[in-house]
Amino acid sequence: MPCRVILTLAMSVEPQKTFYLETFGCQMNVHDSEKVVGTLVSEGYRQVETVEEAGLVLYNTCSIRDKAEQKVFNRLNDYKKFQKQGKKFGVLGCVAQQEGEKIFERAPYVSLVAGSASYRNLPQMLVQIEAGKSRVTGLDDRETDECFETEFTSRTNPYRGYITIIEGCDKFCAYCVVPYTRGKERSRTSESVLAEARQMADLGYSEIQLLGQNVNSYKDPSGKKTFAELLAAVGEVSGMKRVRFTTSHPRDFGRDIIEAIDAVPTLCDHVHLPVQSGSTRVLDAMQRLYTRDQYLERVSWMTAAKRDISLTSDMIVGFPGETEEDFEQTLSLLEEVGFDAIFGFKYSPRPNTPSLALEDAIPDEEKARRLNVLLEKQRDIQRTSYQRHIGKIVEVMVEGKNEARAQWNGRTTQNTILNFKVPEGVEPAKGSYIQVMITGSFPNSLLGAMVI
Ligand code: 5AD
Ligand code: SF4
Repeated sequence: MPCRVILTLAMSVEPQKTFYLETFGCQMNVHDSEKVVGTLVSEGYRQVETVEEAGLVLYNTCSIRDKAEQKVFNRLNDYKKFQKQGKKFGVLGCVAQQEGEKIFERAPYVSLVAGSASYRNLPQMLVQIEAGKSRVTGLDDRETDECFETEFTSRTNPYRGYITIIEGCDKFCAYCVVPYTRGKERSRTSESVLAEARQMADLGYSEIQLLGQNVNSYKDPSGKKTFAELLAAVGEVSGMKRVRFTTSHPRDFGRDIIEAIDAVPTLCDHVHLPVQSGSTRVLDAMQRLYTRDQYLERVSWMTAAKRDISLTSDMIVGFPGETEEDFEQTLSLLEEVGFDAIFGFKYSPRPNTPSLALEDAIPDEEKARRLNVLLEKQRDIQRTSYQRHIGKIVEVMVEGKNEARAQWNGRTTQNTILNFKVPEGVEPAKGSYIQVMITGSFPNSLLGAMVI
């Protein structure tokens, strides 16, 4: 008898809809994926770990460099065999926005192509896919949507979370696709950002990262707060221990941001300020809207701050027309500034961008050589400069444990990775904050021991 009851129940329940989502690219995409997951789960879908298990396979894509874009098409090619099993495929994010309906021609088994500004409408798009429509698009909202938040967000980390405060970019650097994929700048009101921060604090989040392609170009539509004031206000939310922000643009980087960091202890000692090149001539060609000296002026504000602010940056080598001399200037900037980390890239021509019209004449091997020289030099700088931390006691948010090495790990307020030992019998909780004495340094991380 009980068996029959179970059978009846099982027959009345529809098989659950499943999806697999892979994310490429920057933190904005990682956070967008959290919005996509939240929306799909609210629509009754269950997230699965493999393509094999999924009914719907989604790729949230990045088109910042050609290599990132190619990855997505390779992935789609690898998995097109699953189409015969009735799986549906969707391309989301920047490649979707950039390539639009052309994706259907290139990969006919794809049934959804949607840019980031349309995720709010995913429920309606899903209904169409479920009804068997083969070419569903969400591509039109990028210039017009003022509200880029979705109703649901499924954050993956229970302690540290992102909040998008500004979408899009109006800077139009010569090499960059972002203004075309993410559209014009749109900021959220400071009230809605603060409400989300308070809600997250109530849920137990103690670290928040404010996101935007140009986070410091933030303009409060309600006119109440500047970026620096919003940053300070998020830092003052009850329960908040750490507030970060990324990515900043040097042109809009005001001294008030440094003053806010100095004044509000919860704001982290870290600024990511991409410089791209050390040569004013190249910066001009890149349409970056600042000179080497203006960048160095901003660095001097950080050096003069009361807090020990760690500075990291992005660099592009091999931009059209970059001479050996220009490149030398980028190397000399590394020495002059003493960045705590850099992300280096070979210039990659992108669709729609102004620099596509310039001849990409520097051979790939030369770009690769310059990139190697750049990264090697930075490694040497970090090898020496990270030693300055040895002997200090710093606060770390505990993130994980490497069982094999019996070592824990986390990040300092400066965003440096710190691996540490804990005393016998102590198990620090993930998400908790502990004090660690720095005992050693490597080019990209620090070593320490928990202090009790
Ligand atoms: N080629 C190489 N690097 C690029 N970036 C942006 N566009 C390109 C491009 N076309 C780099 C910049 C930016 C980072 C996110 O990616 O350094 O700051
Ligand atoms: Fe791209 Fe420049 Fe905008 Fe940054 S500021 S997103 S590099 S166009």
